[in-house]
Amino acid sequence: MEDDSILGPKDAVYEFDNDQADAELSEDVNFAIRLVNVSRSYDLRRRKINALNDVNLEVKSGEFVVVSGYSGSGKSTLLNLIGAIDYASNGRIFIMDVPIGDYDETFRATFRLNTTGFIFQSYNLVSTLTAVENVMFPMQLTDKSTKDLRKEAIALLERVELGDRLDHLPWQLSSGEQQRVAIVRAMANDPPIILADEPTANLDLESGKMIRDFLVWLHQQGKTLVVMTHDERIMNLEGVRRLTMNKGVLGEDV
Ligand SMILES: Nc1ncnc2c1ncn2[C@@H]1O[C@H](COP(=O)(O)OP(=O)(O)O)[C@@H](O)[C@H]1O
Ligand SMILES: [Mg+2]
Repeated sequence: MEDDSILGPKDAVYEFDNDQADAELSEDVNFAIRLVNVSRSYDLRRRKINALNDVNLEVKSGEFVVVSGYSGSGKSTLLNLIGAIDYASNGRIFIMDVPIGDYDETFRATFRLNTTGFIFQSYNLVSTLTAVENVMFPMQLTDKSTKDLRKEAIALLERVELGDRLDHLPWQLSSGEQQRVAIVRAMANDPPIILADEPTANLDLESGKMIRDFLVWLHQQGKTLVVMTHDERIMNLEGVRRLTMNKGVLGEDV
């Protein structure tokens, strides 16, 4: 099957209409991701934890950014802010030029579905849904028929060699297989931005390689990628822009 029929770039217009916001996004943006003086702190009893300290970041459309850093340095915190899963304590975040901090959860939920695919370290598949249903799950915003969505989901799963695991529930899949379902689920709506939090941690060699190949392929498709990882094989992929996170401070790795 032709790649383009499943995952090729759509007309680059994203429409949102709910009570809170009408926004039209185009891929012709200044930056896919822009953070201006962003901080995130957590209040734990009397202790304040500064997980992110005055982070500035500009990511152009189509860039493949890899952030490495020790455990606890703030990588997941940063990714959750970019993915509009969490709010900044200070500063401003623009995704596809949209200041997402200005909007409420209704807007942000729709925005997330359209603009970002999120790959979690712990897969986060819906345990009561099969592999193919998990991939179809984020596709709810389209007006395509269930039959067509299923076809698209199957084609995606075949890309990661799971064509014979379509009707397996997550517990009937190995960790590597679950992560492969999760990575194609992130692609289900063909979002311009893919975010991945240590996607190859705890995976067998073969699944790790499949995930890396898939990331490279996404980059070639023009997607903007931000990947948090310790995996040197990801950091050393061609065309990667390497950043480091150290105690909540983001730096360019030169
Ligand atoms: N919900 C939370 N409440 C309190 N502290 C948190 C929370 N999430 C993360 N932290 C703290 O913020 C810091 C950064 O965490 P995190 O972003 O998960 O780091 P990493 O992903 O690099 O391991 C850590 O010190 C962590 O303990
Ligand atoms: Mg983390």
